[in-house]
Amino acid sequence: MEDLFTNEIVRAENLKKTFTLSRKQQRLEKTSETRKVAVNGLSFSANRGEIYGLLGPNGAGKTTTLRMLSTLIKPDEGDAYIMGHSMRKEPQKVRDCVGFLTGELKLETFFTPDYLFDFFGAMHGVEKETLVKRKRELFARFGIDAFSQVKVGDLSTGMKQKVSLVISIVHDPDVVIFDEPTNGLDVLTAKVVTDFLAELKRMGKSVLLSTHIFSLVEKLCDRVGIIIDGKMVEEGPLEGVCGEKSLEEKFFELYRGLKGEIV
Ligand SMILES: Nc1ncnc2c1ncn2[C@@H]1O[C@H](COP(=O)(O)OP(=O)(O)OP(=O)(O)O)[C@@H](O)[C@H]1O
Ligand SMILES: [Mg+2]
Repeated sequence: MEDLFTNEIVRAENLKKTFTLSRKQQRLEKTSETRKVAVNGLSFSANRGEIYGLLGPNGAGKTTTLRMLSTLIKPDEGDAYIMGHSMRKEPQKVRDCVGFLTGELKLETFFTPDYLFDFFGAMHGVEKETLVKRKRELFARFGIDAFSQVKVGDLSTGMKQKVSLVISIVHDPDVVIFDEPTNGLDVLTAKVVTDFLAELKRMGKSVLLSTHIFSLVEKLCDRVGIIIDGKMVEEGPLEGVCGEKSLEEKFFELYRGLKGEIV
């Protein structure tokens, strides 16, 4: 029983989030509705040492779900437990064990990776000695030593991405949450990221990512949750969800079943 409990590193229970739409958003979404249900009673769990992929089309509620799990926004209903800590009741404890990465993270170009690592480490309250040790290990492991004293503005996209990635785990979180990890990246930089995620798993971390890329889930993930219209429509180990089908076939089967033919 104990093992079963500690193996579950993320447990989301009936998460719900509704946004109030501004006039501008109503125009953009071509709707007269003033409210939009982004996440509609979502439950799932992710296990220790695994990579979990939240797969869903645009607007399915992936980013909203991950932002709730990272305590950036509050759910209207439901709760999630990260390493057993309630996101509602113990948000700081959740923040301490989560590293949140978004593709849109932009690093300050004037500073060096070395400086930024120290800065974010101090922000997370990492002790100086521990920080020095972590920097040494992570910079060596991910090949950052060679450019640790170069200003971020002078680095390639792939190098910058590596820096963002190590910064997100500066406080040694057990869980790494990554929204659309390879969005907008070329194949080389995307590989930097996918290799990094696989390496995090080898290091014993648990990864929760969102994506609409089937091949990324098939390549990297142990478990998958398929989200459509803010609801989890299928969830489980990759082989269990797909059976004899490819993930793409399975997704379209589910999608058609819910929404009819794709136009
Ligand atoms: N702050 C907000 N205000 C109003 N509506 C929002 C807000 N954030 C998200 N939404 C709406 O909620 C729904 C879910 O959005 P979300 O960003 O979570 O989807 P997603 O699965 O991440 O999509 P994508 O693949 O495009 O990133 C969408 O219809 C979106 O327009
Ligand atoms: Mg999104």
